[in-house]
Amino acid sequence: MTDHVNRDPHPAGHGHPHGHPHGAPASVPGTISHDLRESTSDLHTAAERSELQRLLVSGRASRSQYAEHLSQMFLVHRALDAALRAASEASPAVRTVVRDEHFQEPYLREDLAFLGVNPESIEPVPATTAMTARIAGVAAADPVALLGYHYVLEGANNGNRFIARAVAGVVGQRPGGPGTRYLDPYGERQREVWSAFKRDIDSVELDAATRGRMIGCAREMFAAVATIGDEVIARTSMASVSSGAPGPALS
Ligand code: HEM
Repeated sequence: MTDHVNRDPHPAGHGHPHGHPHGAPASVPGTISHDLRESTSDLHTAAERSELQRLLVSGRASRSQYAEHLSQMFLVHRALDAALRAASEASPAVRTVVRDEHFQEPYLREDLAFLGVNPESIEPVPATTAMTARIAGVAAADPVALLGYHYVLEGANNGNRFIARAVAGVVGQRPGGPGTRYLDPYGERQREVWSAFKRDIDSVELDAATRGRMIGCAREMFAAVATIGDEVIARTSMASVSSGAPGPALS
C-alpha cells in the first residue's frame, strides 16, 4: 500500500458532474474525491430516499427515532474516531486528511445529553455491531482505507445541515444548537471544511489497490447507515407498539 503525500495541489474546478444540488465545487476527474463521489452516487440517492432520512429531513421523525438515530451514529463514530486517531499516528496519509474538528463523538455526546440519553447504555442494532466490527478489522489490516468510511460520514455533513434545520425548527432550537450539533458541526464553515477535506484527500498519493479498498469502504458505510436507519425505524416502531402509544413527535 502506498502511504505518502503528494504535495502538488490539485486545481479546484466548477460544475456538477451528476446533478448534485447547491453548487458544490466540481470534483476533478482522476482524483480520489471524484472517484469516491462517482462510485457512491447511486448509494447517495438511495440514502436520501430512505425512510428514516425522509422523516428526518421533513421534520416528521419522532423524538425517539431521532434519539435512536443519534445513539446508533454515536457508536459508529466512537469506533471510527478511535480508529482514525490511532491511524493518524501511524500513517502520514491519514494524518494529512483527518482534523481534530472532524471527530464527531463529542458533538454526539452533547446532543445525547440534551436528549437525555446515557451514551453508555445504548444498545447497538445489529447493523451497528457489524459496522463497528468492520471498522476494527479495517483499522488492523488497512488503516488508510478507513478514509473511505470517513469520507461518507464527513460528506454527510453537507446534507445533515438541511436536516438540522428541520429538526431544529420543531424542537425550537437553532441549527447547530443544543440537540443538533452533530448534524451541523461547522455551521457557516461547512463548505470550507468540506473543500479542505477534498483537497487534503486528493493530495495523498494512493495506489490503485488502496483506492479500490477505500471506495469499497465508502460503499460499505453508505450501506451500513441505510441498514442502521431501517433497524432504527423497526426498533422505534416496536417500542411504540409495546408501550401502546406512538412515539412523541418532535413538534
Ligand atoms: C435526506 C437526506 C440527505 C440529503 C438531503 C443530502 C443532501 C446532500 C447534499 C445537498 C450534498 C452536497 C452535494 C454537493 O453540494 O455536491 C450531499 C453530499 C454528500 N452526502 Fe448527502 N444527503 C442526505 C443523506 C446522506 C446520507 C445518509 C449520507 C451518508 C450516509 C450522505 C453522504 C453524503 C456524502 C458522502 C456527500 C459528499 C458527496 C461528494 O463527494 O461531493 N448523505 N448530500
